[in-house]
Amino acid sequence: MDDIRAELESHIALVPDFPEPGILFRDLTPVFTRAELFRGMVDAMVEPFAGRYDAFAGIEARGFLLAGAASMRTDAGVLAVRKAGKLPRATLAESYALEYGVARLEVHADELDPGARVLVLDDVLATGGTAAATCSLVERAGWEVAGVAVVLELEALGGRSALKGREVFSLLQA
Ligand code: PRP
Repeated sequence: MDDIRAELESHIALVPDFPEPGILFRDLTPVFTRAELFRGMVDAMVEPFAGRYDAFAGIEARGFLLAGAASMRTDAGVLAVRKAGKLPRATLAESYALEYGVARLEVHADELDPGARVLVLDDVLATGGTAAATCSLVERAGWEVAGVAVVLELEALGGRSALKGREVFSLLQA
């Protein structure tokens, strides 16, 4: 686990003043281009929850990459958690505050069987608004939250307190 952490740290690009002045953006795209590292990262994210999930919630947009990859490494499929207005059938929606801005997430209300255990995957946990809205959607749809796994947790932004009572796993902390 420590090897993958060190390798990840060395491939995350730090971009100052993106998308707004004063924000230090951590860009994971160099990790996604390296198949072995990408695979190791996804394995390390889902391993703590082994045997406790039936599906991965992938949060648009970068969570899609993680959930798709995790699905190919396991027997669990992907629940697409999309930004507003993208899903064509009956949806449940949750609005939430971002580190910068406001947004809304949706899921198809009938996508999984009742009681399905859902592991939420995303790249970054910042304020926790995105992950909390996703957990809320999962539960409102009649499924269970198995936990939340992220690549990087920005501890100063308090995401864990927005997810009280949830099992949260982060590979890296900053
Ligand atoms: C980023 C990131 C997480 C979220 C974390 O996504 O990928 O989903 O912010 O922030 P929070 O913990 O404060 O809610 P963003 O909304 O920028 O969307 P994108 O992946 O489509 O760029």
